Amino acid sequence: MDRNELEEGARRILLTNLRRGVADWNGKEYSFVCPSLTGYPFQWFWDSCFHAIALIHLDQDQAKAELRTLMSGALPNGFIPHITFWEMEKQPDFLSHNIVGMTEPYHSSTMQPPIIAYAVERVYQATGDEEFREAALPILIAFYRWLRQARDPDNDGLIAVIQPEEAGTDCSPKYDEALGLEELTNRGFITALRKVYAAYEPIRGDDHRILAADLFHFEDVLVNSIYVFGMRSLARLLGDAPEAAEFTREADRTRDALLAKCWDEEAGAFFDLSGVAENPVKMVTISSLMPLILSDLPRPIVERLVDQWVTSPDHFWTPYPLPSVPASDPKFMPGNPGGFIWRGPSWINTNWFLSHGLRGHGYSELADTIVAKSQECIEKSGFREYYHPYTAEGLGASNFGWSTLILDM
Ligand code: GLC
Repeated sequence: MDRNELEEGARRILLTNLRRGVADWNGKEYSFVCPSLTGYPFQWFWDSCFHAIALIHLDQDQAKAELRTLMSGALPNGFIPHITFWEMEKQPDFLSHNIVGMTEPYHSSTMQPPIIAYAVERVYQATGDEEFREAALPILIAFYRWLRQARDPDNDGLIAVIQPEEAGTDCSPKYDEALGLEELTNRGFITALRKVYAAYEPIRGDDHRILAADLFHFEDVLVNSIYVFGMRSLARLLGDAPEAAEFTREADRTRDALLAKCWDEEAGAFFDLSGVAENPVKMVTISSLMPLILSDLPRPIVERLVDQWVTSPDHFWTPYPLPSVPASDPKFMPGNPGGFIWRGPSWINTNWFLSHGLRGHGYSELADTIVAKSQECIEKSGFREYYHPYTAEGLGASNFGWSTLILDM
């Protein structure tokens, strides 16, 4: 496949998954790409940011529309939901086999990895549209402040998620213990999750109380790496504005906390912290590598992550890297896990993050190989949700939006 064919394929998916209209419930216009018409027919937060980044290469007006629609879902307190149900008529079917934390029928009351300021920065860089930037700034400032105020109760710079879907890596085995997973299947996961949801029911929407309840409280490495990454973009977007210093300072603080509290020198990996007690969850997953997206990660740590994990055939260097769980882990599940996701297959979004991160640290060849392997997955199997790390077999949803990120790799 040459660049043109890849672009045509991506364009077909982004156009097919494009939803435009006026929402019955708030009278607002929407224009966004849903992750997949079959499985995910609404607007998802981080998917939407990825779609906007892919759209930069195809249709910049649509890239702006995507992000404007996402930002139009922001609440007065700054929070931006992880799902907005623009087309409410599709909700009953979706909720018959998915669970979502909600306080309002129109959107979830949960977050997703805060990549939005980076997406806005990229679209702004590509278009030079000042109006777009200026309209976005107050929404972004309010959103990143909301994260700090609502999600960092111990004020250590690391924000916490209250359920696994908030980290975007839903069924990752790193959450098994905290969830008390008894049956290692998607059904077992949903059963365990329902218990958390039931306990949250009376306090849903009050994140301080939810975090204090300490039922599921993860200072997640992937989420916090993206939080730093996003705040750096926000600081750059702010330019000379006084708030720029605030977000640079906060980004530094979160980076320092990742290094001080999540880095495990003995293991050579970053680990999430579970619970108010901040117990390290000593399990390596794709999340443990995510600080590589930070350009100021200390060199010895970069080298350790690359040499010990990324390029090791025992761990992440499978024929179609990078698997969501290293091959060495007893819980590694390379094939189609029947909806039990993030337990082995390779995903294009994490490859997008890590190929850019590695390139930034000087590993151009390695980055090129990850890009070439990602492209091979798409050539063999189409734009799928995730891929078998040994065969490139396409798995999960078809015509999946964020796999078009290949255009930006
Ligand atoms: C799955 C993924 C999540 C993604 C969503 C929509 O739940 O785990 O990261 O945002 O699907 O694609």
